[in-house]
Amino acid sequence: MLSSQQTIELFQRYVIGNYTRYPVCLVRGQGSYVWDAEGNRYLDFFPGWGCALLGHCPPRVVKAVQEQVAQLIHVPNTWYIEAQGLLAQALSERTGWGGQCFFCNSGAEAVEAAIKLARLNGKPHRRYKIISMLNSFHGRTMGALSATGQPKYHHGLEPLLAGFTYVPFGDLEAVANAMDDETCAILVEPIQGEGGVNLPPDGYLQGLRQLADQNQALLIFDEVQTGMGRTGRWFAHQLWSVKPDVMTLAKALAGGIACGGIVARPDVAEKLKPGTHAATFGGNPIACRAALAAIETIEADGLLERGRAIGQRFQERLESLRAQCPLIQQIRVQGTMIGVELSIEGTAIVNECLKRGLLINCTQGTVLRFLPALTLTDEELAQGCAILEEVLSTYQP
Ligand SMILES: Cc1ncc(COP(=O)(O)O)c(C=O)c1O
Repeated sequence: MLSSQQTIELFQRYVIGNYTRYPVCLVRGQGSYVWDAEGNRYLDFFPGWGCALLGHCPPRVVKAVQEQVAQLIHVPNTWYIEAQGLLAQALSERTGWGGQCFFCNSGAEAVEAAIKLARLNGKPHRRYKIISMLNSFHGRTMGALSATGQPKYHHGLEPLLAGFTYVPFGDLEAVANAMDDETCAILVEPIQGEGGVNLPPDGYLQGLRQLADQNQALLIFDEVQTGMGRTGRWFAHQLWSVKPDVMTLAKALAGGIACGGIVARPDVAEKLKPGTHAATFGGNPIACRAALAAIETIEADGLLERGRAIGQRFQERLESLRAQCPLIQQIRVQGTMIGVELSIEGTAIVNECLKRGLLINCTQGTVLRFLPALTLTDEELAQGCAILEEVLSTYQP
């Protein structure tokens, strides 16, 4: 096996440098731990950038993929695929509002499908504009990027897709003011993830539902990060009992295997007719079997409840840390979606944690973000928090 340094050299020569990478090559993962090429072990509070919600290499997902890969790797969507049908049923039943699914491979693709569906739905009424939120993140393809309300990601790539208006997250009046008779949809993350783990104010999602209904616009929830059990419910919108017309999913959908999708109200979904949209690998047998195994794992192992308990423990532990650490401005927790707002830049803290064997993320410059696995044990939680405490204690304002 190559050393980390040898792999880094390959990257320097042959891989486009569009990512900032840590100087470590990871080679193995199990549960909440990963190992590098030198055999060093790290405790992972940010497994798979939100994709490894069940931890690394969850056993049922591994088995399902192994079995499927030996049976049938890929067939296109010109054929019926049993696993895709079963996955669509499983998702639809868990939404509780009877949606129908389209499958793709990533979050950005799911958002693209939702944008197309919103436009197709609005077309007969000459509606094409979409309202999305400042600080949102919807992906890097040109449509999803245009939906993303963060100018820093747009620089150099303009002109963007026409028709997007950005308003502050949490501000219903701003949405009402931005609505006009060309608006076809409101697009929002129920909890902003990359934007800093921002929770919606009371009544916000209900208010968006009303505004969408009053103005014949669709309500699209981007649940790429919040979906599949991340917030302690299958989907974050269930926390506030607000139903979307369209929901996007990806990240944790298939236990770490690439898979994205949308779930849409049937009378809206029917606008995606043959020829309007497609994805060659979308809904392939491997991804769908992995997703079915992920859903089975969450239910068989009671992981929605466990996620709520993990969130509660983080909240308690971080609150007591806050009492001693004036750098911590705010703690925002919903299930295993955790943000710690600091008064200083967080990058150095992430790097210090890495040196001590703990993997965390920093977003928006000052928000430490953890998206731990639902399988994280209490001991692992305590161990990681102790490292964080040690690191933060060295940074006094
Ligand atoms: C809410 C949300 N939507 C969309 C995306 C884009 O997903 P992907 O990177 O799989 O394209 C992300 C990625 O972080 C996300 O958090």
